[in-house]
Amino acid sequence: MSRLGSGSQGGPVLVLGGTGEARRLAAELHAAGVPVLSSLAGRVSRPALPVGEVRIGGFGGPAGLADFLRTAAVVGVVDATHPFAARISASAAEAALLTGVPLVRLERPGWRGHPDAGRWTWVPDAAAALAAAPDAERPFLTTGRQSLAEYLPWSERAVLARVVDPPEVALPPRWTLLLARGPYEVAAERALISGHRADVLVTKDSGGALTAAKLTAAAELGVPVVVLERPAPPPGVALVPDVPAAARAVRRWLTQGSTRF
Ligand SMILES: NC(=O)c1ccc[n+]([C@@H]2O[C@H](COP(=O)([O-])OP(=O)(O)OC[C@H]3O[C@@H](n4cnc5c(N)ncnc54)[C@H](OP(=O)(O)O)[C@@H]3O)[C@@H](O)[C@H]2O)c1
Repeated sequence: MSRLGSGSQGGPVLVLGGTGEARRLAAELHAAGVPVLSSLAGRVSRPALPVGEVRIGGFGGPAGLADFLRTAAVVGVVDATHPFAARISASAAEAALLTGVPLVRLERPGWRGHPDAGRWTWVPDAAAALAAAPDAERPFLTTGRQSLAEYLPWSERAVLARVVDPPEVALPPRWTLLLARGPYEVAAERALISGHRADVLVTKDSGGALTAAKLTAAAELGVPVVVLERPAPPPGVALVPDVPAAARAVRRWLTQGSTRF
């Protein structure tokens, strides 16, 4: 990206983050001389921090975010949060409508196009995931720390739960907790799945390459896969699939001087 200087109103581009894409976008904008402010929810203990200015913590819903956009004279918002972070995405959509600040949603493509996707069981929520694997005795669960409580009906099963940060709920004695952060390799995932003797993998459609190795490993081992579908993105919000496309949207805002949604 060429150097663009500050936005039309002198305020920053707000990047709603918590993902690798958000960090890469912040780095790209920062390197191009665009004032960028990254926002993190503050959920994890040692977040990977983006370059440039960072703020941490919720805004207080759509109205709070709208106030923030006005006060900080934000020139545009890139919602680069995780595909499953539905509340902040809805909040960003509403705040953009309230303020007229332009918004784009950077959402990496999901795994629907994965070569094995047709063999997986796709489910809308945790209850359906539980129902999809009624006989599994040794599930490998990678649906995220905040979802673990929804799988407590499996408290008598030998669940291997892998999460980045320690969960807030107490886990059943039969469960094994694995704290780990990707990226993961196929060989190590194969060893983990076969070492646990997992008989189902339950995961969510995060997309991307960093955590996809488990899908290949499960296929190689003949372990069935249950995938939680993504929440729908907020209606009316422009979607881009990657960092270069998000940077192009920012460039348009800055060169056209537009602050309309
Ligand atoms: N969900 C996942 O699987 C997942 C995986 C990897 C990373 N993450 C990252 O972790 C963060 C939280 O995810 P979540 O699923 O808990 O989100 P969420 O359910 O959509 O958001 C819950 C609340 O957290 C606050 N929040 C979320 N993201 C924020 C951000 N980037 N900056 C400021 N406030 C934020 C907002 O509070 P207010 O209403 O008070 O503004 C929001 O209403 C996100 O930034 C996301 O990118 C999530």
